[in-house]
This record gives sequence, structure tokens and C-alpha cells, in this order.
Amino acid sequence: MKQPIYILAIESSCDDTAAAVFKDDLLLSNVVASQKIHQEYGGVVPELASRAHQQHILPVVHQALAKANIDKKDVSAIAFTRGPGLMGSLLVGTSFAKSLALGLNIPLIEVNHLQGHVLAHFIKDEMDKPMPEFPFLALTISGGHTQIIKVNSYFDMEVLGETIDDAVGEAFDKSAKLLGFPYPGGPLIDKYAQSGNPKAFPFPKPKVKGLNFSFSGLKTSILYFLRDQMTQNENFIEENKEDICASIQYSIVSILMDKLQKASKETGIKEIGIGGGVSANKGIRDALKQAENDLGWKVHLPKFEYCTDNAAMIGIVGYLKYLESDFSEQKITAKARYHI
Ligand code: KG4
Ligand code: ZN
Repeated sequence: MKQPIYILAIESSCDDTAAAVFKDDLLLSNVVASQKIHQEYGGVVPELASRAHQQHILPVVHQALAKANIDKKDVSAIAFTRGPGLMGSLLVGTSFAKSLALGLNIPLIEVNHLQGHVLAHFIKDEMDKPMPEFPFLALTISGGHTQIIKVNSYFDMEVLGETIDDAVGEAFDKSAKLLGFPYPGGPLIDKYAQSGNPKAFPFPKPKVKGLNFSFSGLKTSILYFLRDQMTQNENFIEENKEDICASIQYSIVSILMDKLQKASKETGIKEIGIGGGVSANKGIRDALKQAENDLGWKVHLPKFEYCTDNAAMIGIVGYLKYLESDFSEQKITAKARYHI
């Protein structure tokens, strides 16, 4: 009988230290240590993130192995996030993965974090969910990325469009900050939006060519809008919180859906896979459900823990690369900017 392949995966590209263990494509454990420290500063502080990764990485890896009920000697290969991300954060995971692979004398597999978000759909667990069929369109929406990718096969991907300034999660968080919400404010906008009128305050849509996105103009128009309103009524935000949030969310969701529809029309692809932390947003989920009905799309949404930054998505890519014997050399280095 064929011996199973055990992959230990490590992710440390931003502010989550994560480790996961796979037996072939089956996920055995998935551990994430999130860093609370950044909340006090209203955003991720790179230097604090790398220090926290150093504190978390060993316990997180130990816990992932223990939960999977395997010994480190059983691991067949180590997969790690090489980039893109914060250099100091990436260095912690990269050097840890390199030393462990060297110590255990097993292969090392570098993984592109963005590819991880796209291939998270192929993680197998106790839930028997249908996986996307190739070719599909992947929409990755998080605090760090906003991309539409045409996925022809596991390792043949083409970026059709991406943000030219802020990521969509940043657009949510920066708007939330203008409203005085704590970081990260995206989920709070979502919460208040649910009882507001999305058409109450129309914000202008950015004019960006092709399938690229821009969100920085929206932030500026919200800033001016709030400033003007507050000069007339200093309680404007408090009195209109729900309507403001619903209007902001409506604008952001429309920007995303317009481009996704354009991509679907241009490519003729109706199989859609969503990833990234912003896929928790109710507005985007409702819009996608509507598109399934109205446009005949088939939308795939992975479990939320595979959408936010995690090591399971790095592990599945590691497993697929292992099958191709696509291993990395010990001299490999982290890469803060790393395109698909
Ligand atoms: O993928 P993620 O956990 O981390 C990275 O950015 O890599 O995404 C976090 C982002 C934050 O910007 C957060 O505000 C946003 O996702 N977010 C949401 C919601 N849940 C998380 N934005 C809008 N609505 C939500 N329900
Ligand atoms: Zn990410």
C-alpha cells in the first residue's frame, strides 16, 4: 500500500502565526495564533508582528503536530509561506521552516501566499464539499489583497485584475476608522449595515480601466462627506450610523461585483471561488447568492477558517507541489513582493 505523505505547513506572512498538518490532501490539524497587540495601534505594526511570530511559532507548530497526533519524525516535508507579506514576519517562518527541514533531513517546499488563498478550496476535511472545477475565477478579498485570478489548473493561474491602491479590507477598515470604530472595523460596518439603507448616501464609483480595482477614492469621498455633514450636525455619525455603514458597504460590494461580472463575461467562466477575510461580509455573500440565481454562477466559499490567513491553505499547496517533486533549496529566501 502507498505510504501517506505528511506535510507540516507554516504561515507567518502578516499578523497570524499558523501551522497545519496534512495526511495527503486531508487536513489533520489547523492552528492559528492571532496577534491582539495591533488593535491598540489601529493597524498591523510590522516590528511587533515579527516579535510575536518568534514567540508563537514553536508552540503553534507543537500544537499542530500534537493535534494531528503525529511525531515530527513522521513529517514528509515542510511547506512554508515565502511571500508576499511583511519581510520581518516572513523571515521568522522561513528560517524556522528551513532549519526544521534541515534538521529532519526532509524536503522544503516554498509556497506563494496568494496561491494558497486560491487553492484553499481543495483542502479536504470531514465536510464533503464540492470543489471548483477548472477553469474558475478566484476572487481574493482580504486586508492585504484584492485580486481576480483565472485559475486554469492548480499551477496555471493568471491575474486578470487587482487593486491599484488599498485592498478591500483596508477600505472597510479605513472607513470604519473615520466613523470612530476600533480596528479592524470591517466586521462592525457589516453589523450596522444590516439595519441600514444602502441607498441613503450614494458615494461615487471609481473609474478604473479593465479588471483592476481602486478603493482610495472612496475613502476620500467618505472623509469629505462626513466632514461636511458634521459641520451641520456634530451628531451626524451617531444618528445615521446604520445608513452610513449600509451605504459604504453597498459601494464596496458594487465595486467588487461589477468587476467580477465583467471578468465572468469576458472569460465566459461562471465557476467562482471566493477567499480572504472579507468573504465573511454579509453584503458580498448576499450579492454572490443573487448572482447564482440571476446569472447562473456556481459560487464556492470555503469554511471561514480557510478564508482568513491560515496554514491549511499553505499545506494544500505544499501537498500538490510534493506530488510534482517541486522542492526548494536550502538557500531560498523570503520574498516580500511575490507575484502569482
Ligand atoms: O484575511 P484576513 O483575516 O487577513 C488579511 O488581511 O490577510 O482579512 C482581514 C480583513 C480585515 O480588513 C477585516 O476588517 C476584514 O477582513 N473583514 C471584514 C469582515 N470580516 C473581516 N470586512 C467586512 N465585513 C466583514 N464581515
Ligand atoms: Zn492573506
